[in-house]
Amino acid sequence: MLDKIDQFQKEFLQELEGVKNRGEINELRVKYLGRKGVIKSLLKQLPSLTVEEKRRLGGKINQLKKLVEKKLAEQEEKLNQEQPLTSQGEFLPHWPSQFGRLHPIEWMRQRVLNIFHHLGFVEFKGPHIENDWFNFAGLNIPPGHPARDLWDTLYLNQNDKKGNPLLLRTHTSNIQLRALEKYGVPLRVMAFDRCFRREILDPRHSHTFSQFEVLVVDKGINMNHLKWLSDYFLKEILGQVTESRFRPKYYPFVEPGVGVDAKCVFCNGKGCPICSYSGWFEIAGAGMVHPQVLKNAGIDPNEYSGFAWGFGPDRMLMLMTGVNDIRQFYQGDFQFLKGGR
Ligand code: PHE
Repeated sequence: MLDKIDQFQKEFLQELEGVKNRGEINELRVKYLGRKGVIKSLLKQLPSLTVEEKRRLGGKINQLKKLVEKKLAEQEEKLNQEQPLTSQGEFLPHWPSQFGRLHPIEWMRQRVLNIFHHLGFVEFKGPHIENDWFNFAGLNIPPGHPARDLWDTLYLNQNDKKGNPLLLRTHTSNIQLRALEKYGVPLRVMAFDRCFRREILDPRHSHTFSQFEVLVVDKGINMNHLKWLSDYFLKEILGQVTESRFRPKYYPFVEPGVGVDAKCVFCNGKGCPICSYSGWFEIAGAGMVHPQVLKNAGIDPNEYSGFAWGFGPDRMLMLMTGVNDIRQFYQGDFQFLKGGR
């Protein structure tokens, strides 16, 4: 084995002589010092030797290692002197010719989660395949309720263990009861994720889309908190020129329910082609959590109240970027993602 070590040392010094650039130095480094390199393979043989031999050969191997490290560093330094990095072309061809970038939905996700992180919300993940209770019945939408028509979806021909039908969740509101059951109250959670509906596809409708939702439950929560949050978020995402407006709107799991509009940022509320001359965009759905929903989670609605608030990030992105077909976010078209279409 001693001979072998000497032999490796000789070989190394010879190879070092022939080195011309940093790439070759790196190759040598890997060959001798790498995880599957010469030094490692020598060390692996040590356990089968006697204590005496171990000491002697172990020391030798260590010497070789030190030598390799020192010589490679010296050679590198020499190259740095001769060919400073700035004038060296050798690395350039290895750079990728195109850099990746965030998908627009992911870009939006990071922005929105960041805004709400600052307000003390934590992200809660709900399943895409959901049972009827969390998506519908538990949220005051029992079988046969006409509101189910608003959220028609794709059903699996399979039930869960308790016999609940399984479906692709139609909204992120399925996290409401799940989060309340898991964490109890007080609670501040958010979800940004994919949802699914049976849609007639057109530039504004896709069977797969994104939703963002927050849920706050605590003592003394009221509509003022909801209004403040709506204003705060819209100003953060669209700019300080906007503000929110509430209209009465029906959702079975909130009472009262509101549609949240943002003042058009293009015309400052005066009316323009982008906002169809109304001065406002419909952005979000929200409302005070229905007492029955709290009861379904085992929470006393006389003691606790809360609000839920959700919006469609895809539509918001379309507004912010001028993309005019929602389906483009879900097709993985490289030209589109590069910003070319
Ligand atoms: N889940 C509702 C929808 O999909 C939006 C919403 C969320 C409404 C929270 C009220 C409260 O349309």
